[in-house]
Amino acid sequence: MPKVAVLPGDGIGQEIVPEALKVLNTALKQSGMKFEFEEHLIGGSAIDLTGKALPDRTLQACLDADAVLLGAIGGPKWDSLPAKERPELGALLPLRKELNLYANIRPVKMIPSLLSASTLKEDVVKDVDLVVLRELTGGLYFGEKGRNDHPPAAYDVLVYTENEVKRIVELGFQTAQQRKKKLCSVDKANVLESSRFWREITNDIARNYPDVELTHMYVDNAAMQLVRNPAQFDVIVTENMFGDILTDLASMLGGSIGMLASASMSGKKGLYEPAHGSAPDIAGQNKANPLATILSAAMMLRYTFELNQEADNIEKAVIKVLDEGYRTADLAKPNEKTVGTKEMGDAVAAALSMEFGN
Ligand code: IPM
Ligand code: MG
Repeated sequence: MPKVAVLPGDGIGQEIVPEALKVLNTALKQSGMKFEFEEHLIGGSAIDLTGKALPDRTLQACLDADAVLLGAIGGPKWDSLPAKERPELGALLPLRKELNLYANIRPVKMIPSLLSASTLKEDVVKDVDLVVLRELTGGLYFGEKGRNDHPPAAYDVLVYTENEVKRIVELGFQTAQQRKKKLCSVDKANVLESSRFWREITNDIARNYPDVELTHMYVDNAAMQLVRNPAQFDVIVTENMFGDILTDLASMLGGSIGMLASASMSGKKGLYEPAHGSAPDIAGQNKANPLATILSAAMMLRYTFELNQEADNIEKAVIKVLDEGYRTADLAKPNEKTVGTKEMGDAVAAALSMEFGN
């Protein structure tokens, strides 16, 4: 039986993951399939109960599973711990590294009924349909880091091996081939040696993909172009840190970061999570938007299990409830009626049942 490790984590993670499971179970039931879902501890809640942000049992369960569904981690309670013990450096990054999840995929597509939810002008965002491919296990996040005492200084090293660049850029070309055949590689080659290296490798690989139109863009310009004319982009491929920054920016093109799904892949194996954090300010209040997690679950069905029909159905159900006017607080305009996390999850599950049967 397909096996999924479920890691709700901290803050709103505890609220949004059950909604994604509700929708997943509805979709699976419709197809007469059964998955094994096994819940495990991660992040601050794991620190509280076991002393470790990534307990060995959790890591083992993730290694044994076909896919991992994650909520969110972190919160003010654990912010004062030594950096290496905190949920981010103690759990999420080692999990990405241990599972070799080098390819992070974050798609941003405008859903017409959310046009007015974006903080940008409708004309600018109406045709947005892009995907950011972010390298996830190299660069500044994983380079040597440390402090010097005399004189006091701190450093994080940005290093990329040829292989690390090759595998993500190749995936960029392949992703573009399946879409509008446009790949934009984002770097800072006017300043950084690692970017010049990245660009050389990308140009080499481009020879094997003559059907894909390749452009290079400096990351500062890319940030500007993403708000100026985001519809120009199809696939963006970039290194870890640039991708982290650009995907938060890009999320607002689709209305809210609460809509941004994320898949971190290594072959068919993947970790699926919303791109947003644990939102401690609204945690436990039934206010969080579960749609990014629900859409991440759809990506899981598509990429790990090749259940394209079921994934399509979930995405259609999400569009339907948004068309019908369901809005969590992050998506609502002032004075617009909002629904809670649970109600949004129920609405998507109901739409799925109504459209595609029980
Ligand atoms: C993301 C997040 C993480 C990252 C944090 C929580 C470490 O911002 O997935 O984009 O920086 O990769
Ligand atoms: Mg981020």
